[in-house]
Amino acid sequence: MICTLGDVLLDVIVRLSAEVAPGADTPAETRLATGGQAANVAAWVVELGGSARCVAKQADDPAGALARTLLEGRGVELAGPVAAGTTGTVVALVSADGERTMATDRGVSVELRADDGSIELAVRDDGRGFDVGLLPQRIAEGHIGLQSQRERVESAGGRFEIRSSPGRGTAVEINLPD
Ligand SMILES: Nc1ncnc2c1ncn2[C@@H]1O[C@H](COP(=O)(O)OP(=O)(O)OP(=O)(O)O)[C@@H](O)[C@H]1O
Ligand SMILES: [Mg+2]
Repeated sequence: MICTLGDVLLDVIVRLSAEVAPGADTPAETRLATGGQAANVAAWVVELGGSARCVAKQADDPAGALARTLLEGRGVELAGPVAAGTTGTVVALVSADGERTMATDRGVSVELRADDGSIELAVRDDGRGFDVGLLPQRIAEGHIGLQSQRERVESAGGRFEIRSSPGRGTAVEINLPD
């Protein structure tokens, strides 16, 4: 399994058959696709026969739902927080001679960037949740998934927090010095 971390954007590809006529109509062929490097790398991993998960901050708008559907349709497992806001959208104008011109709106994913000397990542779900107090026992039983992530983050000088309770979902928050 390959895991990518980054943006999930919506690409709108507009293929023009003639030069753009300002103030008038120009015939075009349009296509919608998921964009963003993290999503694209994950999609290629699946295309080449592997399995991939893409961790990305996503927006709760209709464009976000469409980007998710398109990416999951390519067999990528999508994870990461869904926040209020707009999905980053890139409009690519492809002229008749193949030249590309982009109009870029990066949407909520911009908030995933490093800030104030640290990098923050929060992954939340609305699943069954669990009693965090039971973790030492789970570790002793050989369930080291969360513990190994914690050790990886802490050995890099970061902070790793798990918040969860039964029936109330789980939030894992990571803060790493830049
Ligand atoms: N997102 C989650 N929602 C609900 N319960 C969770 C979640 N993440 C972890 N848990 C609980 O915490 C326990 C410990 O998680 P951990 O990832 O350390 O081990 P695991 O998933 O059981 O095994 P592995 O070592 O293969 O990852 C899990 O068995 C599960 O009960
Ligand atoms: Mg696990």
